[in-house]
Amino acid sequence: MIRLTLAEIAAATGGVVDAVPDPETAVTGPVVIDSRRVTPGGLFAALPGEHVDGHDYAGAAVAAGAVAVLAARPLPEPVPAIVVPDVTAALAALASAVLRRLPGVTVAGITGSSGKTSTKDLTAQLAERLGPTVAPEGSFNNDLGLPLTVLRADESTRYLVLELSARGPGHITALCEVAPPLIGAVLNVGRAHAGEFGSLDGVAKAKAELPEALPSDGAAILNADDPRVLAMAARTAARVVTFSTGKATAADVKAADIRLDDLGRASFRLLMPSGIAPVTLNLHGAHHVPNALAAAAIAAEFGMDTPAIADALSLATARSKWRMEVRERPDGVLVVNDAYNANPDSMRAAIEALAHITSGGRRGIAVLGYMAELGDITRESHEEAGRLAARAGVAALIAVGEEARQVLDGARAEGAWRGAAIAVPDARTAVDLLGNLLRPGDVVLVKASRAAGLTEVAAGLLSEVSR
Ligand SMILES: Nc1ncnc2c1ncn2[C@@H]1O[C@H](COP(=O)(O)OP(=O)(O)OP(=O)(O)O)[C@@H](O)[C@H]1O
Ligand SMILES: [Mg+2]
Repeated sequence: MIRLTLAEIAAATGGVVDAVPDPETAVTGPVVIDSRRVTPGGLFAALPGEHVDGHDYAGAAVAAGAVAVLAARPLPEPVPAIVVPDVTAALAALASAVLRRLPGVTVAGITGSSGKTSTKDLTAQLAERLGPTVAPEGSFNNDLGLPLTVLRADESTRYLVLELSARGPGHITALCEVAPPLIGAVLNVGRAHAGEFGSLDGVAKAKAELPEALPSDGAAILNADDPRVLAMAARTAARVVTFSTGKATAADVKAADIRLDDLGRASFRLLMPSGIAPVTLNLHGAHHVPNALAAAAIAAEFGMDTPAIADALSLATARSKWRMEVRERPDGVLVVNDAYNANPDSMRAAIEALAHITSGGRRGIAVLGYMAELGDITRESHEEAGRLAARAGVAALIAVGEEARQVLDGARAEGAWRGAAIAVPDARTAVDLLGNLLRPGDVVLVKASRAAGLTEVAAGLLSEVSR
């Protein structure tokens, strides 16, 4: 974080200093919420966790070098604290105060139902070519993760690439108040968290809060292939820049001649208003093409030219774990680990990638767990996943856990499918079963919502290698 005195932090957060010998003492290090990550000069924010309360670690944080603790109540130990009514809200207020002191930072926000983290990672890898860039670790995209990311910016920062998530109306507006974006990209409106929004129009309304928050000298980057996203053009004061993977020929940023290699990595010609250049992605799955176009459009707003964008996209790697991670085991089994998360759209994207990778004759196996937070569309979404897997011609479809069984119903309803539909109770059993089933050359896709715990299946499959 930039250097701020405890008095300044108290003023920014509406807090009261407690047990602070000198309010002019400055915080010079990072703001952290895990006392084990405190570094000297930093600020420790005490949050109530699921299992532990940060306030219990205030003493340890100060012993590790924290200048003070941002706390929701006076601490029993006499450690320097800034006491605020709500620590998360205080972090947001602090982040916004910090950003106001950094006028040289250009903020870009990315939202959408799927692909935010992938696009954020691509965009960050482009922006880094231009200057010092701060972007979230993993999926730090909510009322806590976003302020913590912003607080990592300092006087040297030029670009702040943020991921904005919404689980309800008003969430994105609030995030845009913390870090007002000049550039905002909306990737898609899909069925993630459908249970909480009720309908796709409800999801669209929430995502539209990003273009609505943009200023007139900003740029709204919109997916012209998604009608609900394109319609947001009417809801922004900013200049509109559209992108398309082919269907919308009038789009500003396009991909032409898209081809996938045998591991599902896309090559295409990047068509931008300022030029044309070839791109070959290192990411697996055709669904990363729109993500790459959104990243390209943002980078162009940052001032990057087309050849540099194409070059950086082609060198970019998957920075965040468990999203279409493809690993070939020494025995020739290819593991596609997409177990980070799942919603019906990313499920479809992953199964399409599996279908492509196995189109040359390799045997495909899908190991699927349940998709959470889908409300009324839970059953149909799981059946659809099964149907898609069957149509992709998988040799076996393994449903992990009771709640995933509906995928098997969907697959069985595909009359022409001759694969095996197998239900297993848990990740361990799935790994044991796969131990007997897999043959060299097979391709195994592992995918589910995170709560389903299928990362253990992928880990189990990959550790088989060393046995
Ligand atoms: N444009 C896309 N369309 C469909 N699926 C996608 C797209 N981009 C990424 N995915 C898939 O969606 C899953 C999540 O990707 P990613 O983490 O990038 O999305 P996210 O929007 O950040 O998700 P979260 O809401 O969990 O933060 C992965 O399985 C990924 O392969
Ligand atoms: Mg994410």
